[in-house]
Amino acid sequence: MQNLKQHLGALLGSCLSKAAGIANSNANVITASKPEFGDYQANGVMAIAKQLQTNPRELAQKVVELIDSVNDKLIERVEIAGPGFINIHLRNDALMAKASMVLQQPNTLIPQSEQAVCIVVDYSSPNLAKEMHVGHLRGTIIGDCLARVLEKQGHEVIRQNHVGDWGTQFGMLIAYLKEVMKAPDPGSDDLPTRLADLEVFYRAARKRFDSDSEFAETSRLSVVKLQGGEPEYLQIWQRFIDESLRHCQLVYDRLNVTLSNKDLKAESFYNDGLSGIVTALEEKNLLTLSAGALCVFLPEFTGKDGDPLAVIIRKSDGAYLYATTDLAAVRYRCFDLNADRSLYVVDARQSLHFQQVFAVARVAGLASDNISLEHVTYGTMMGKDGKPFQTRSGDTIKLIELLNEACRRAFELVSDKNPDLDEAARQAIADTVGIAAVKYADLSKNRTSDYIFDWSAMLSFEGNTAPYLLYAYARIKSILSKQETALEQYSITSIDAREERDLLLKNLQLPEVIEMVATDCYPNLLCNYLYELAGKFMRFYEACPILKAELESRNSRLSLAALTAETLQQGLDLLGIETLEKM
Ligand code: ARG
Repeated sequence: MQNLKQHLGALLGSCLSKAAGIANSNANVITASKPEFGDYQANGVMAIAKQLQTNPRELAQKVVELIDSVNDKLIERVEIAGPGFINIHLRNDALMAKASMVLQQPNTLIPQSEQAVCIVVDYSSPNLAKEMHVGHLRGTIIGDCLARVLEKQGHEVIRQNHVGDWGTQFGMLIAYLKEVMKAPDPGSDDLPTRLADLEVFYRAARKRFDSDSEFAETSRLSVVKLQGGEPEYLQIWQRFIDESLRHCQLVYDRLNVTLSNKDLKAESFYNDGLSGIVTALEEKNLLTLSAGALCVFLPEFTGKDGDPLAVIIRKSDGAYLYATTDLAAVRYRCFDLNADRSLYVVDARQSLHFQQVFAVARVAGLASDNISLEHVTYGTMMGKDGKPFQTRSGDTIKLIELLNEACRRAFELVSDKNPDLDEAARQAIADTVGIAAVKYADLSKNRTSDYIFDWSAMLSFEGNTAPYLLYAYARIKSILSKQETALEQYSITSIDAREERDLLLKNLQLPEVIEMVATDCYPNLLCNYLYELAGKFMRFYEACPILKAELESRNSRLSLAALTAETLQQGLDLLGIETLEKM
């Protein structure tokens, strides 16, 4: 089903095409930039007029006549403005009818995409040798939001958690684990205790590795044995991986992120296919031997000095690289999963890596021509000092600790606001608010820029924050709870006040925003929208009494409030944020 903008775009596009005699002309319909321009405006006439070398206002006049002759049920009137803009005013009854339908069937608020496709979303993808740290927050929640949005539109979404579980570090970890498990102290075989803190364990292993050359050698041999498939090594490795994954799952559950074990496609999964990648590249004559390593050189990638940059496929010792695994993953996603689109939600610092992998995959036929490969980049989370967010001593901060801290701070805030609530209730609210605050602060920033992590800004009740939106939602719910109308009985029957109409139209624009997020992968567009929606509700609430109004307008306004609550709830859910009935 089409959203409002798509409907108008199609209608005005066809009228413009007819008037200009040019097939598929784009009317360029956008939401009106000012209220006096109506609800939407079409900006496409001028460009077409220029192409035809005719007067734009005359062309606009022809378009307007065609629109009028159609008698579209959504359009009240259109008018020409300025050099050839077309302002579009929508009919109140059509808007009210659409809204009432949504109230009766809330799942029609976000219509299904007319062209469902298969989309892979690679996100989170931590390295399992260590604990997840703050650097994993962005990719994990941006990816989760995109997966939710695309799924909601009816696409087949395949989540891929491309965890790192196969590199040389695992040799070191296995060697160390074997050592400590041999130690005679009681409980030493208790892996969960041993690995309670992966970070501590990793550091201890690293210390051994750096200070003891014999241990370092054992570590190197251990990777070879592991990758050669020796059962004993595989078994220890598997136990380590399982334990590490359990830690990740705790973080995902805490964050309300939809990843689970079934979404895992670890690096090791591609191991058996790596020699096949070499063969495929060989067949296309793409490989060059350089200092013993097998490399691909593509003319479009050169270093600062203009020398060609290598994509290393296999090192001289026979080891494969990160890029080799990603080539195997591209092939799997394209030809086994049959994806139409494959998104990689990964740090911007890996941008060259993905450009190279995508380019090699295309020339080598490891990706079909029609799959869309997209690196969805994001910037770094910074501390107030403008450096990547760390502890004072310069250590990385574990993600789980950051979340604990968020909930602790939220608890103080909630206790301040609601000293009378019992402690368990305050804690439950704080757990939701704390996580929501961290997620929303991140998702509401343009993902491509770095941003400064700031506790007091994200926990504020003012501005574009999670507490503000959650509070707006809870407030509407409390108004609605004061009377007993069931959702199906809601119906919007009048939007005479400007604030009512504004709020109603805004509600109906959620699908357009969702469509933009689905196309361009910017969750901050959805955040901005929800913030504006909440603002429009507040203005409506100030200008239009609800409970004190006459029966008919009271019902209509309650319905509008119910619609807004529904939109807020569905929008926040797509961000992975839970709402609260009380705050
Ligand atoms: N494990 C990698 C890292 O920690 C991220 C993997 C991203 N996905 C991919 N297909 N390369 O940097």
